[in-house]
Amino acid sequence: MARHDSDRPTRLSQAELARAQAAAAGLHAEFGPDDDGEWAAATGAGERDSLTDEPGGVRLQKVLAAAGVGSRRHCEELIGAGRVEVDGEVVRRFGARVDPQRQVIRVDGRRIPARGDLVYLALNKPTGVLTAMSDNRGRTTMADLLGNSSERLFHVGRLDYDTEGLMLLTNDGELAHRLTHPRFGVPKTYLAEVAGPVPRGVSHQLLTGIELEDGVASADRFRVVEQVGERALVEITLHEGRKHIVRRMLAAAGHPVTRLVRTQVGPVTLGSLRPGATRPLSTREVGELYAAVGL
Ligand code: URA
Repeated sequence: MARHDSDRPTRLSQAELARAQAAAAGLHAEFGPDDDGEWAAATGAGERDSLTDEPGGVRLQKVLAAAGVGSRRHCEELIGAGRVEVDGEVVRRFGARVDPQRQVIRVDGRRIPARGDLVYLALNKPTGVLTAMSDNRGRTTMADLLGNSSERLFHVGRLDYDTEGLMLLTNDGELAHRLTHPRFGVPKTYLAEVAGPVPRGVSHQLLTGIELEDGVASADRFRVVEQVGERALVEITLHEGRKHIVRRMLAAAGHPVTRLVRTQVGPVTLGSLRPGATRPLSTREVGELYAAVGL
């Protein structure tokens, strides 16, 4: 109850602020609780931005909050501070109504996942799991790990049956398409256990390009993480998508892979996700993925 009471001045002051904005623009505005029971500026001609309210649309702060940007109040502050854009236009009205299915909404220039029907997951794929949603040979697939949430999800690219690590899954077809398209060159990072020791020259060879049967391949980054006897742990980053590319590059350099783990895709890291487990991507991670592929 106390919490409810302490909310009231905030809501009223928002209404007052919106009223002051309209007054400053020399306009007439009407105010009242909208269909969500919250106070907002009535929309109509003469708002200070020219965004057209979507008939039947959802209030902007509600969309932002639902997308995980923060509390409604925080979202209102972002709007008031001019940090929110809808279809490229800064919108400062708390009551602006938008269509989250169709419109592109950005906070500080970063797109937010506004569509409530879109799902973005990270999965730590264990070895012995097929990168597929079904298999006519009865092997374990990612659908077995995901259970019911696998419906209509795309896996973003592939990992070998014996490769572990980060796999992104989504039903956002455009994002999935771009993340795997060579044109966007999204970098992926792998940790590989290889036959060692790995001499210094290998790094140069991989970075400048190594000959494979289907053409030259090069790494964006390469480093030896540790060397233990006849084994070495190396980290390699590349934006190539060819089949078995890391295994083939390292084998061609004389260091066949005995274990391969993908640790990063673009801005998303595997972190401490347990093998076989999934987690939803954060709003920030999805925004960074959009940015990485020009969405
Ligand atoms: N490169 C490989 O060799 N295998 C993978 O699974 C992914 C990249």
